[in-house]
Amino acid sequence: MKILIPDPSLVLLIGPSGSGKSIFARRHFLPTEVVSSDFCRALVSDDANNQDVSKDAFDLLHFIARKRLHNRKVVVIDATNLRRDVRKQLFLIAAAYEVVPIGIAFDLPKTVCFARNRRRDRYINPEVVERQWEQMQHALTNLKNEEFATLYVLDSVGAVEAATVERISSRHAR
Ligand code: UTP
Ligand code: MG
Repeated sequence: MKILIPDPSLVLLIGPSGSGKSIFARRHFLPTEVVSSDFCRALVSDDANNQDVSKDAFDLLHFIARKRLHNRKVVVIDATNLRRDVRKQLFLIAAAYEVVPIGIAFDLPKTVCFARNRRRDRYINPEVVERQWEQMQHALTNLKNEEFATLYVLDSVGAVEAATVERISSRHAR
């Protein structure tokens, strides 16, 4: 699948923990283009896993997104983005800066997310992964009706591997 990224645009990665969002972001985007909720948690609390600082972390994430869009720069939101209200806030930011929102959804088997979680250093409670994976199934039924200019659904490990990312002028978007 060829993923077309209008420049500038607001890109939402969507997927449960272990679905490979951060690895994908690292592979296809500049480090400065990617804003991760975990990194924002760390910036405000020294702990990337600290769930008690979500408000401050997301305020910071939104602030960075706004500043990049103000400067007409692509911004990639590396967060689970599983909740409608979370996505809605990002759609509002995209609209405010007159850029299109692009979605890249990681629809991978539960077994893959679980197996990766077991292998990684930042181990997450399997119950959390399970819950997020269920949230993803629900989100997948709604995403196509949301505000995305384009939604790309990567539905297997092979599809993620084979995906390419190409920048296009934002004038060609929509
Ligand atoms: P990621 O750390 O990219 O997942 O991959 P994520 O979606 O961003 O997860 P959260 O939301 O931050 O928790 C998870 C693990 O899976 C491996 C990575 O090396 C990492 O340890 N992985 C990821 C692969 O082995 N192959 C891939 O294609 C992607
Ligand atoms: Mg990640």
